[in-house]
Amino acid sequence: MNETLLDVKNLTVTFNMLRGRQYINIHAVRNISFSLNKGEILGIVGESGSGKSVSTLAIPGLLGSNVVVTGQAFYSGKDLLAVPKKELKYYRGRKIGMIFQEPGRSFDPLQNIGSVFIETFRVIDPAIKKEDAIEKAINLLEETGLTNAKERLSNYPHQFSGGQLQRIGIALALAQDCELLVADEPTTALDVTIQAQIVSLLLELRKRRNISIIFISHNIDLAAHLSDRMLVMYGGMIMESGTTTQITQNPIHPYTKALLAAAPSFGTHYSTSRLVSIPGKVTDPSQLTVGCPFAPRCSQTSNQCRTEDFRGIKCYERT
Ligand SMILES: Nc1ncnc2c1ncn2[C@@H]1O[C@H](COP(=O)(O)OP(=O)(O)OP(=O)(O)O)[C@@H](O)[C@H]1O
Ligand SMILES: [Mg+2]
Repeated sequence: MNETLLDVKNLTVTFNMLRGRQYINIHAVRNISFSLNKGEILGIVGESGSGKSVSTLAIPGLLGSNVVVTGQAFYSGKDLLAVPKKELKYYRGRKIGMIFQEPGRSFDPLQNIGSVFIETFRVIDPAIKKEDAIEKAINLLEETGLTNAKERLSNYPHQFSGGQLQRIGIALALAQDCELLVADEPTTALDVTIQAQIVSLLLELRKRRNISIIFISHNIDLAAHLSDRMLVMYGGMIMESGTTTQITQNPIHPYTKALLAAAPSFGTHYSTSRLVSIPGKVTDPSQLTVGCPFAPRCSQTSNQCRTEDFRGIKCYERT
């Protein structure tokens, strides 16, 4: 039976910020709901600014103070949006691990990798012996495919390539035994060969450890390569959700179709077929519009798309 790990309900994230002399609201995420089973990979795709990162950062409370987050995010049945900040710390890292686009920026340039691992293990077990922590670190780095792991523990971040740093980042997330790994554009800064290696590593880890993964990408074809289910986001809303086969073989929303036509095929250096760009500009998140946020750019807009009733996911939810 599928066991739900994360169940997000009506998540809304609004930033309040100064623009010129006025405070304005940025409607980054608008009333989205989705869930994730244990051992499942969920892809979140959409153009830049569509709300992919904010939707996931809000769950373990990783957004700043100028933000209002409403809704619920049940993690193993506990609403993380309602737990005290102190308790939330336990979920970060220990339960939910995160890796980002530029792994180099997640590391302290003055700390060698070995000591980062020792520090991480000591968070969980303050009494752990240095030799034991080192041995565990080597095992994890070998699991994530870093060659010469033992010798490389004394190296500093600048001595690794982007792909190697991403493997180290994944090993650090696993060091705390996370159950959910949020990978936010983890391969965007890497060349296609290394990109493919990181994608297979994530698939392997899911198989071996049964972890759940949220894989965020602006490339729908790349996300489809490893996801079981997908969410297509635009203007802070979910335009369409479904299994990867439904989304890629039988897309319903014009935005999904446009994204598919605009995505280069996973693993290719260049494409022989013409990629179609999506005309128009992305929405302004400070202007709250009624109806589908994609309507102003869509060639198939009808009056129904601009009505109050349109709620993205509701219109295109599959039964
Ligand atoms: N700290 C912040 N303060 C104000 N606005 C923010 C903040 N973080 C994000 N936003 C806004 O929220 C919206 C959604 O941003 P988000 O980072 O989730 O987009 P994204 O889909 O991850 O884009 P990308 O593909 O570029 O990473 C954007 O309009 C962004 O400018
Ligand atoms: Mg992002």
